Formats: sequence, structure tokens, C-alpha cells
Amino acid sequence: MSTSAPFRETAIAKVREYWNSRPCNIRHSPKPVGTREYFDEVEARKYFVEFHIPRFAGFERWKGKKVLEIGCGIGTDTISFARNGAFVTAVDLTEKSLEVARQRAKIYGLEDRIRFIQADAENLGDFVPVERYDLVYSFGVIHHTPNPERVIEQIRKYVGPESAVKIMVYNRWSWKALWILFIYGKGQIWKLRRLIAEYSEAQTGCPVTYSYSRKDGRRLLEDHGFRVTDVMVDHIFPYSIPEYVRYQYKVAWYFRWMPRGLFRSLERAFGWHLCLTARPE
Ligand SMILES: C[S@@+](CC[C@H](N)C(=O)[O-])C[C@H]1O[C@@H](n2cnc3c(N)ncnc32)[C@H](O)[C@@H]1O
Repeated sequence: MSTSAPFRETAIAKVREYWNSRPCNIRHSPKPVGTREYFDEVEARKYFVEFHIPRFAGFERWKGKKVLEIGCGIGTDTISFARNGAFVTAVDLTEKSLEVARQRAKIYGLEDRIRFIQADAENLGDFVPVERYDLVYSFGVIHHTPNPERVIEQIRKYVGPESAVKIMVYNRWSWKALWILFIYGKGQIWKLRRLIAEYSEAQTGCPVTYSYSRKDGRRLLEDHGFRVTDVMVDHIFPYSIPEYVRYQYKVAWYFRWMPRGLFRSLERAFGWHLCLTARPE
């Protein structure tokens, strides 16, 4: 069975409705949305909790280069690329996220480096003029669209022989998937794909969430003319949720005893983020 089969028929309108109702990371700061303090705090929290992102994206490497970001959300990585000197085209399915991201670019004076476009990545060519980018980047997005393969097919149009593609999709064989399976699914492994979709995000009921083994992730790219050059697994969320939603970072009791080195090894083996780097064949 294709990894895409379970949600293939889900309407993109449902996906848009879900993300419009609560853009990703919108509650990363309690400050008024749209202010500089708000955006500073969103960024600090994101890269504190997901500190592997700057390493994966390599923001400083794209100075003076063209970056196409697919599924920019409220624009945390978009700003980091632009601040480091890249020229960014950032697309998202939802008006709400783009509204916040545009305001963010304005606050930091980066409007002339970022072009925002509302687009369904499955039909990117209908929205975004076809040209070559040095990097096509998509973090935590492709697994939320009903037909991820279509997005990869579209990406082909925007790359040349020297371009890089960096995508993050969820890792099926991860601590988080195991957690969802036992806490919400009572161990019913045959329901794993559906359970992951239901409980993958902070707000339950995400209409589409695929997850990929390392092999599936590679295949997603390799079946569409890319050669995977690097696979990195990372990220286990270690904090106690009641404190985390109050902006405090208290490590959950079951990780507190664990030496840092052991925890990092666990993250690299069973992290939730499967980060793939590829080049056109
Ligand atoms: C989990 S958020 C990630 C946002 C951002 N990349 C980040 O790391 O903060 C997923 C984003 O993907 C967008 N998305 C989902 N399906 C999409 C599609 N078919 N085309 C464009 N964007 C899509 C959603 O609107 C949402 O903003």
C-alpha cells in the first residue's frame, strides 16, 4: 500500500480549515500577536524546543541564494532565511498564517527579501511562477497534505542540477508515535496511521498526517527523480505539558534521570522529525 493511501480523498479545503483555525505555533508567545515581542518570543521558543532546525536548514548557507519555502506557516524559518541574506518565496495554504507571516516580515524590515504567495503545494505550478531555486525547503508540511507525492512532483519544476531540497516529515518509528499508540491507542498497532493523524498536533483532529519510515521517506523523494544525500532523525519533546503551556520548561519525570548523552542518542534513533536532504538525479 502506498504511504499516501489513507488520506488521498481528503478535501484540501478540510486541511485549509484546520490550519486556518489555529496556525502552527501561534501560541508560542502570550504577547499580542503581530508585535515584535511576540515574534521574538515565538522564534526563541521554537529554536529552543526544536534546536535541530537551524542545523538542518543551515540558514547562513543560503546568503544571496534563492529559497522556495513550502508551507511557511507563521514564518519562523522564512525570517531566518531572509535575515541571513536569502531571497525567499514562501507559500502556504492558509490566509491566516500568511497574514501573520507578512506582518512578521514587516516588523523586521525584511519585506523586500520575501515574496509570500497563498498556494496549494500540490498544484504549485498554478500559483508560483516556475523558476530555479537554490533550495526548496519544507519543514513539517508535506505529511499534512492529502497527496504528498504531488508536492514532490511539483518541486521538480523548481530545481536545477545544483539545487538542494530539504524536507522534514514525521518519523513513524519514533518515540512520539509509540507514545500516541500506547496513551491514546491502547496499543492497537493496526490503527497507528489513523492515531498519528488524530494526535500528531497540539490541537487534535488534524485531517491529514502521514508518517514515514526512513525507507518510505527516501522513496518519496527517490521515486520522483531525487537522490537523497543525507538522512537525519531528531527531536523528542522532553517537557511536561502542563508547565510547557505556561511557558515553563520542566523535563518530564521519565526523562529527568536520563544522562544528556543518552537522551540525544535516543533522539537520533527515535526522534519525531525525519529530515531529508536531496538533490536532483
Ligand atoms: C505544521 S505547520 C508547519 C509550518 C512551518 N513550516 C513551521 O515549521 O512552523 C504545517 C503548514 O503546512 C501548511 N500546508 C498544509 N498543506 C499544504 C499544502 N497543500 N500547500 C501549502 N501549504 C500546506 C499548513 O497551512 C501549515 O501552515
